[in-house]
Amino acid sequence: MDKFVIRGGNPLLGTVRISGAKNAALPAMAAALLTEEPVILENIPQVRDIETTRKLLAAMGAEVELGYGRAQHRTTICCRNLASPEASYELVKTMRASTLVLGPLVARCGNARVSLPGGCAIGARPIDLHIKGLELLGAKINQEHGYVEASAERLRGAEIVFDKITVTGTEDLLMAATLAEGETVMQNCAREPEIADLADLLNKMGAQIEGAGTAKIRVRGVEKLHGTKHRIIPDRIEAATFILAGAITGGDLNVAGCDPQHLDALLEKLHEVGVKTSCRGDSVRVEGNDNLNAADVITEEFPGFPTDIQAQYMALATQAEGTSTITENIFENRFMHALEMVRMGANIKIEGSRAVVRGKTPLSSAAVLASDLRASASLVLAALVADGEIIIDRVYHIDRGYENIEEKLRAVGAQIRRIGEILPKRRGSGVG
Ligand code: EPZ
Repeated sequence: MDKFVIRGGNPLLGTVRISGAKNAALPAMAAALLTEEPVILENIPQVRDIETTRKLLAAMGAEVELGYGRAQHRTTICCRNLASPEASYELVKTMRASTLVLGPLVARCGNARVSLPGGCAIGARPIDLHIKGLELLGAKINQEHGYVEASAERLRGAEIVFDKITVTGTEDLLMAATLAEGETVMQNCAREPEIADLADLLNKMGAQIEGAGTAKIRVRGVEKLHGTKHRIIPDRIEAATFILAGAITGGDLNVAGCDPQHLDALLEKLHEVGVKTSCRGDSVRVEGNDNLNAADVITEEFPGFPTDIQAQYMALATQAEGTSTITENIFENRFMHALEMVRMGANIKIEGSRAVVRGKTPLSSAAVLASDLRASASLVLAALVADGEIIIDRVYHIDRGYENIEEKLRAVGAQIRRIGEILPKRRGSGVG
């Protein structure tokens, strides 16, 4: 299993370029199931979850070309001949977002068999709202042996009001509704930029969707969708992670190729903390300093402060003067990183859904364990300001969603290297 070895203390200086959004690319790849024609997606990040989705689609009989090059990270997906509309437990257990194929498969093929995802490190994360929505669209649902089976000759439009805001639930049902007969109106939808990006793609494929990116989405169902070409939006969570890396190291970092409008909640918070940021075009420049103020954070659905940067913000809070309270409202168990930061010297107390961080505390060498994707990123940030060597185990989590994170960090001055058996080409790359 790969590990990161990090020596902190260097301010990050220079420019880092942001990749395409993993959480926009995953539903976009699932959307290709809705048509017989090829769908070309550009700005696909080179991360493990994309490879898992490639395998998932290929197992159903889709032709998936995936290529990474200097200019384009691109995939072409053709789902003309779908042999088996099924997502196996083997794949779903490694990536919950595999459940995104449920809606498109039942809409296009009339039936689908998708494994239930089971437990997750950050919370229960059921998919009951996806299932309830599909039932409202007229699908017959049968759940047994750990699988959901959905069938419908043709889905029909319906009024769907989400009891709770769900990102992939909104995406799954949005895709299903594009091929339903008649109109679907969805209320209390998630408003994340990834949903607007998916709707853009679907509309280019011939769908009739209005209101994506707001709480109310209206879809007029069509008979068929066609192929298209689409460029995935930049990854706002990767951008946020690098902005926080610049801030925590007291660096001067230009985070390029992002959409600053997607980062408002973080940029406002950093202003409160005393970190200077400035936006120009598709770049955010962050200038860190040694005098950070504590500031409270509450995670919320977009446009609120994202749960996906709560862990990375906690690393910053350990270096701010005073007490920061961080409340996690989206997932019930997303503080695993806190105890690892405590092992590095942080003063953090967990009280239910709140973490109370008292700063500023020096962090120093320790071996720590990454428990999920964003927790791994937060430990990397904490390590960048620690004294001595930090070893982070289980960094396979970070490979699911950050493209070449150690190479990007090294290029702006971090001392980070990967050790382990899995990626031999990286073995031996020296610290610094
Ligand atoms: C998406 O997960 C993201 N994943 C997550 O990113 C992100 O943390 C999350 O949204 C919240 O922003 C992708 O986009 C692939 P939800 P999703 O359904 O859609 C409850 C990362 O690190 N809920 O919006 O699975 C659920 O338990 C990841 O990149 C139900 O109760 O999240 C949670 O408490 C991790 N029933 C809340 O809603 C349902 O049927 C929000 O979850 C669905 C969800």
